[in-house]
Amino acid sequence: MPGSCRPCYNVPSVCPLGQLEIHLRLMLPIKPEDAIVEEIEEQRPPYPAGLLSKREKDRLIERGTAGLYRWYLARSQAKRNWNPDYSFDWRSLRTDHSPELNMILEGYYAVEQYVPDYTSKTIQMTRQSYGRSQFQIRWGAEEEKHADLWLNSLLFSRFRAPAWIEEYKQSLRTAEWPMPWEDVFHTIFYVVIQERATQLNYLNTAIIARGQSDAPGFAEEADPVLANVADTIATDEAAHYYFFLEIARLYLYYYPGLALDALFDVLDNFLMPGYDIIPGRARLGELLYQAGIYGPRQYTRDVLQVALKNVGIEDRRAFVKALSDGIKRSRLAPDPDGNPRHTAIFDLFDYDSVEKAVQKLFGRVADYEHEVGLDQVDPTRFLPSGLGNR
Ligand SMILES: [Fe+2]
Ligand SMILES: [Fe+2]
Repeated sequence: MPGSCRPCYNVPSVCPLGQLEIHLRLMLPIKPEDAIVEEIEEQRPPYPAGLLSKREKDRLIERGTAGLYRWYLARSQAKRNWNPDYSFDWRSLRTDHSPELNMILEGYYAVEQYVPDYTSKTIQMTRQSYGRSQFQIRWGAEEEKHADLWLNSLLFSRFRAPAWIEEYKQSLRTAEWPMPWEDVFHTIFYVVIQERATQLNYLNTAIIARGQSDAPGFAEEADPVLANVADTIATDEAAHYYFFLEIARLYLYYYPGLALDALFDVLDNFLMPGYDIIPGRARLGELLYQAGIYGPRQYTRDVLQVALKNVGIEDRRAFVKALSDGIKRSRLAPDPDGNPRHTAIFDLFDYDSVEKAVQKLFGRVADYEHEVGLDQVDPTRFLPSGLGNR
């Protein structure tokens, strides 16, 4: 039944006043049929209107990343501007460390030899993003110093002749590190876990070098120079971890479905960089395990649990199971703007904690811009994804 006009009670087409427009505005509400109401209800998205477009989300991720990079650069220059030759008392490095510890240091040197690959490939992959590619250049400059530092530790320990070290270096340089993932979503989660694992390796090496290890055969390795080296690199790795973590949370916040999907893949296939191409990797793995530096226990407890908690996932097993069963994973599929089609994905992680972390990141960027005056010309501002009101 069409609606009727309140003043004349006729349907608009037979209105004696001939004022169709007025009729249409004044028409009494038509009661829709129940079946239609139900159908509309079923099709209604489970999240509120006002979600951001893909373009806007990409802009916010870029602003957050670029702002964090500016903050990071200033901090890096002020607090971690060490030099691999001058900042350490190399002449005092012990020359009687066990062969096992020396071989571990060689392994670290090997892993840091792939810096040209890590850096060039990640810069190329992220070059569309000013903030991210600028950061990768800075990151490469910091990783490059780690290779210098481990080279000095090899030379000054006198465990091997310089000619042996040179040959080792050349053999390492013949292989090229392949990117484990070719897209930014997977790569960001890979580097979060990898940086945390690397930091842990060096932190545990510092414990040995402070003479505090209870691993059999590693209790007598106290060496203040080596402790300083391992602590210095571990501090850099921690800074890298936190930078990448912030970016990962930006992706999780604005693109939760795509980000969780990528995180699941990375957890399923994680392998430390270089471990599949450096010579003697199996022996290195055994030594790291014996020394209590890195093994399955440390990976699960000190790497995965920490990193996952930082991205809002408390129960790693439940997360992996929920995604493995294929049902929830299929619900991650986003709409063309990257917004999830189903609220089930919010059962997988603590979205609110990610939102708070992202707000905090924008707050830190705003403080920095205020400090240097950028807030007066081009301030970075946070915008909610809209998904938090589900
Ligand atoms: Fe490093
Ligand atoms: Fe690093």
